[in-house]
Amino acid sequence: MKATAVAPSNIAFIKYWGKKDEALRLPLNGSVSMNLSNLLTTTTVEFNKNFKKDIIIIDGKRDLKEEGRVINHLNRIRKIAKIKLKAKVVSQNNFPKSSGLASSASGFAALTLAATKAAGLNLSQKQLSILARQGSGSACRSIPDGFVEWLKGEDNETSYAYSLFPPSYWKIIDVVVIVVKEEKKIKSSQGQKIVLKNPFLKTRLFYIKEKIKKIKQFIAKKDFPQFGELLENEALEFHAIALTSNPPIIYWQPETLKIVHLVREWRNHGLLVYFTIDAGPNLHLFCEEKNQQFLMKKLKFVKEVKKIIVNYPSEGARITDKHLF
Ligand code: PMV
Repeated sequence: MKATAVAPSNIAFIKYWGKKDEALRLPLNGSVSMNLSNLLTTTTVEFNKNFKKDIIIIDGKRDLKEEGRVINHLNRIRKIAKIKLKAKVVSQNNFPKSSGLASSASGFAALTLAATKAAGLNLSQKQLSILARQGSGSACRSIPDGFVEWLKGEDNETSYAYSLFPPSYWKIIDVVVIVVKEEKKIKSSQGQKIVLKNPFLKTRLFYIKEKIKKIKQFIAKKDFPQFGELLENEALEFHAIALTSNPPIIYWQPETLKIVHLVREWRNHGLLVYFTIDAGPNLHLFCEEKNQQFLMKKLKFVKEVKKIIVNYPSEGARITDKHLF
């Protein structure tokens, strides 16, 4: 009873921030994202009667902070599969954990697929998305392929993600620009709680349906400038909400702001590039395929840039036979 899955991280164009149900991780609003080809988690899960307890190894070591959450997720799966066996879970990220690059999304998507398969279950994509959501909200968007919408839904059964368009639909590039490598100090799960008392959240939620409709239209039409304008507007709004929460959450570092200004300057000089930023200091820069080399050249001369990861739209979680143990 061993299975291995690979799952991509995803970047939200319209972001999920705030839950209406903490235990089930039901979001206050829907969101739209793209799966990322080069930010991957591989996870092998084995259920075995010889195991006395669950063993969780992430990036080569035991991670006591994450262990409880992973075991809770295994328990959900054991309950569905009606098994009591303990598991060994080995998980490997190909990017720095907790740097705002959403390792929990790829992590819980890979865990969901690998553990359900290892437990002998054969769930539909919708069922996998529902289950992944309960491990980490944004993980539900790493299950389907390409460009994805997470329907906020009303309850456990209606809140899941599905594919809007396959990865090949639109050749846009997400250049992840890492300016700070340290783990972030405020976990997104904490931020998601704090935001509930933010008076500006109401206004955000009032307009967000329209934003989701628009971003889907711009993707459908492959209208890059309109898509990019909305992408930035949403990123800035998300950080405005984080900044005005109590206590405030300041994800940006000076290097983040430096790149924000550079992107705007490059755009003023004709290079169509737009940014978005998740719950951390690093940035995702979007351009069309034809401008990729030009953007890379520009970034080469920016001293704040520590590392670059180029991503294309990607397929979602999938099974592989390359086990980690
Ligand atoms: O799934 P979580 O709890 O890590 O929250 C993700 C929150 C953002 O990345 C900031 C936005 C999003 O929709 O991915």
